[in-house]
Amino acid sequence: MELAARLARAAGDLVRSGRPDRVLVSATKSSATDVVTEMDVAAEALLRSLLAEHRPDDAILGEEGEFHPGSSGLTWVLDPIDGTVNYLYGIPAYAVSVAVVAGGPDPATWTAVAGAVHAVPDGRTWTAGRGLGAYLDGNRLRVNDARPLAESLVGTGFGYTRQRRTEQARLVAEVLPLVRDIRRIGAASLDLCAIATGGLDLYYERGLKPWDLAAGGLVAQEAGAVVTGLHGAPAGEQMTVAGPAASVLELTRLLEQNGAASGA
Ligand code: IPD
Ligand code: CA
Repeated sequence: MELAARLARAAGDLVRSGRPDRVLVSATKSSATDVVTEMDVAAEALLRSLLAEHRPDDAILGEEGEFHPGSSGLTWVLDPIDGTVNYLYGIPAYAVSVAVVAGGPDPATWTAVAGAVHAVPDGRTWTAGRGLGAYLDGNRLRVNDARPLAESLVGTGFGYTRQRRTEQARLVAEVLPLVRDIRRIGAASLDLCAIATGGLDLYYERGLKPWDLAAGGLVAQEAGAVVTGLHGAPAGEQMTVAGPAASVLELTRLLEQNGAASGA
């Protein structure tokens, strides 16, 4: 947990100090809206070099690079900038996400051991260790008490392809009339940490990648949240729902009724 936090802060310092006034896109991935900046690549390179120094036998799964196999049974799961579009526009909601999992690289079968999410613009750092609790800058966290859906503030996010977004728009149209309000903050790791801190009551998103979910999911869980998929599946790319148990039950039912686990 300490090393995860150290790494996330080190990469966060680089991202913070190296951000130019106007950030340029250096490449695109799944679609023209799925952008990579030079800083995504530089911050991941820094994380990888720190891991080579401190944990040379562990595997590495990072958003911007190749899978690096290891021999220890542990895998580090890295998102050098979660919320790249916010970084691009200077909207202060982007983070470095660092987790270490037992097993991997398949999120369906791994167990998250520790994680850290460092909010770059304001320096807040969430940490969690399996069975050790979740913390914001050292202070223990607890999710909100469950509220009815109608009184729940719900975070969500959208993917980068047109087909995925069409499906997400259909689903959010079903959810929005039934909840307090919706937030699309733009960094999944921060959404999950907001569940832990009580800044959101619920969160759901389809299409999360392992590095979006690994650290924030453990923070939410260790703060007392249920983090799950639909129809009893584990949280993952198909669907991730997080929040206090009773609220998650209500939201998963609604999502299941609306066929959220199928389609794009
Ligand atoms: C994205 C953010 C966003 C979420 C997307 C993710 P990126 O990560 O977490 O909030 O809605 O699903 O891909 O691309 O900024 O690392
Ligand atoms: Ca990213």
